[in-house]
Amino acid sequence: MFYLCTPIFIPNLLNNENKFILAIESSCDDTSAAVLQNKKVLSNIVATQKIHEEYGGVVPELASRAHQQNIVPVVHQALLKANIDKKQLSAIAFTRGPGLMGSLLVGTSFAKSLSLGLGIPLIEVNHMQAHILAHFIEDDSQKTPEFPFLGMTISGGHTQIVLVKNYFDMEILGESLDDAVGEAFDKSAKILGLPYPGGPLIDKNARLGNPKAYAFTKPRVDGLNFSFSGLKTAILYFIQRETKKNPDFITENLNDICASIQHTIIEILMNKLKQAVKQTGVKRIAIGGGVSANSGIREALNNAETRYGWQTYIPKFEYCTDNAAMIGIVGYFKYLNNTFTEQSITAKARYIIGSNK
Ligand code: KG4
Ligand code: ZN
Repeated sequence: MFYLCTPIFIPNLLNNENKFILAIESSCDDTSAAVLQNKKVLSNIVATQKIHEEYGGVVPELASRAHQQNIVPVVHQALLKANIDKKQLSAIAFTRGPGLMGSLLVGTSFAKSLSLGLGIPLIEVNHMQAHILAHFIEDDSQKTPEFPFLGMTISGGHTQIVLVKNYFDMEILGESLDDAVGEAFDKSAKILGLPYPGGPLIDKNARLGNPKAYAFTKPRVDGLNFSFSGLKTAILYFIQRETKKNPDFITENLNDICASIQHTIIEILMNKLKQAVKQTGVKRIAIGGGVSANSGIREALNNAETRYGWQTYIPKFEYCTDNAAMIGIVGYFKYLNNTFTEQSITAKARYIIGSNK
């Protein structure tokens, strides 16, 4: 048996020069690369894989193949747009997990090879931590929360409320016991015959509908955990019942149905946040993940500032859905913290925030 030598490059942290981090994200169905100059984003290229639309959801095997095709041109574009030469890079940050194993392997292998080829450090990043720390990207149009704050990550794969004590110390207070909130949006949309991903389409139609037109029973879940699978079933039975009476029920009432679904989901999220504030006494709330792009949750959080005296933080649209800039900001903080990764690192499909598990 022979072992490949796996160097770990320790940079010179004493100088105050600019740090240029190349970040790579490939956890699900978006291939993304970004270049950061310290906390500022110079480029953030995202190639969204359209292939999944016709299947009504992400097909893991197709996702990893598409990442293979996209990764080189996406990284090339990111460097070009940032006007940065590979030789100027200080480190490579990449998503280690959580996510789809085949997808993660593409980004992980690419980042490892590039770091080895360029002789610069490698930094592994937890995707969920990145959704939260996206708030620390320096950008005139977004504000940054002070520690401690409550982070609510709402995406297609996760729904969590996290107590964020500092950049690296995060504690999960509650999470979904079944479907993620993004899945609740996407599966409801599928029931209504809308294409994947349905979340943005529910949002679009909801703007024109009456949120109180139909009532759906909200799940009862202890503590700060969530459950969304019952809601999906309730919506399915409701639609089956109504279309039996009127085959055109969906088309005639699409906006009201979407508005009512969205209203129910937002109430579930807001109720848990109120409970989390009560439990922790922390009134700073920052959201992250694809569902933070939803206009209803953004409005509810904005209103909560005056209604409950909370300080709320909503990321810029481009930092809500999966993107490499958020991986880059974690990479930057880890660089300053001297936290680097060895070449023997492997991707992790399940990767709990705030731990190495
Ligand atoms: O964070 P993300 O890009 O990928 C994951 O890590 O899962 O989140 C994708 C999810 C999808 O379920 C998508 O439908 C949902 O975010 N989403 C939305 C909106 N935009 C994206 N859901 C509701 N309203 C939106 N405007
Ligand atoms: Zn995500």
